[in-house]
Amino acid sequence: MVSSAELRRRFADGLWREGAITRSEVAEAFATVPREAFVADGFHGRDGTWVPPDAKGFLTTVYTNDVLVTKIVDGRATSSSSQPSLMAAMIEALDLSPGARVLEVGAGTGYNAALMTTAGARVTTVDIQPDVVTRAGLGLSAAGVSDVDLQLGDGYEGWAAGAPYDRVIVTVGVAGASPLWLDQLAPGGFVLAPIRHAGHHPVLRVARAAGGTVHAAGVCPAGFMSAAGPLSAVYPGAHPLGGGPLPATTVSHPARFDPPLDVFRYHDMWFALGAWDARTTYVQPPDSMDSGGCALLDETVVGGATIWPDGTVRGSGPNAETYAERASALIDRWLASGRPAVPAWRTEMTLDGDPAQPIWVPRDWRLVP
Ligand SMILES: C[S@@+](CC[C@H](N)C(=O)[O-])C[C@H]1O[C@@H](n2cnc3c(N)ncnc32)[C@H](O)[C@@H]1O
Repeated sequence: MVSSAELRRRFADGLWREGAITRSEVAEAFATVPREAFVADGFHGRDGTWVPPDAKGFLTTVYTNDVLVTKIVDGRATSSSSQPSLMAAMIEALDLSPGARVLEVGAGTGYNAALMTTAGARVTTVDIQPDVVTRAGLGLSAAGVSDVDLQLGDGYEGWAAGAPYDRVIVTVGVAGASPLWLDQLAPGGFVLAPIRHAGHHPVLRVARAAGGTVHAAGVCPAGFMSAAGPLSAVYPGAHPLGGGPLPATTVSHPARFDPPLDVFRYHDMWFALGAWDARTTYVQPPDSMDSGGCALLDETVVGGATIWPDGTVRGSGPNAETYAERASALIDRWLASGRPAVPAWRTEMTLDGDPAQPIWVPRDWRLVP
């Protein structure tokens, strides 16, 4: 039987080969921290069933590049250990110096906090669910990572006692950035957060300029569960929250990508459509797009057009033709713009959401010239 240490080494090597890890201290952290210590009770498998630690293949699954859902409430995942390649990309995007002070919003299992600590950061991590915090504490102890400051609270507040931070990393999907995170940053610091855009949560880098304006830049596509509380506020002018399924297709525009766009290029196109059209969101279409995908949703939210990785557009509902035409025109625009990727986008942020607990949300995305 292959040992945990060997599986972990192969896992870190695999992330390195795929390009998800490029920094030696991040590779070393993935090769050192035992992920199984953070899912000691088990996790929900892909089919939703509980996988206990004594299940066949448990360790092998722990060391795959997959999210491990650890808590489901009313059919909705409320805590997990995120996908390792995404964790690696986010830790690398933090550009940590040794001893950097980091605030993490969304402690979850504690695994990400342990990785950042092992990579040399001094970490405070906050989670809103008491049972999740308790389990994260047990995981950190079992993994022998003792110097994480683990706290229970609403991450909207940040954690003032540990400020100032060189970085704030948010590992749960939010609608915008808390002003308190920016207040708690040291000069030159920034926030890395998956901020809702067009029905999903791409990772953005948010910072306040000297004059006080708040800006964001795209970092990478991502999918995250949504945060609880004011961080998930719905505000006027935001993209529809999505959902579906839409009614049956009545208008179809043919495929144009052969082979179809891979998941990253598809999300690049999706991001651009979202920047150009506020009706862009996520839907579960009527046909077979298994995990759902990009769509323009009409105002009544009973129809629109779905946009597929192969470029097919399918219109449905009362204004099917109009939405299909619009979707195809947006794809043309993305192609004519040179297929910009998520990091090509910049925006100013504006305060919105709950007036008592406002958040900085993106406004007027533009491409870097
Ligand atoms: C995807 S998990 C985080 C993964 C985690 N970083 C890890 O390494 O396992 C998201 C976590 O965010 C937490 N969360 C949701 N809303 C929150 C909020 N407003 N403040 C703090 N934590 C929140 C959830 O309880 C959940 O545990």
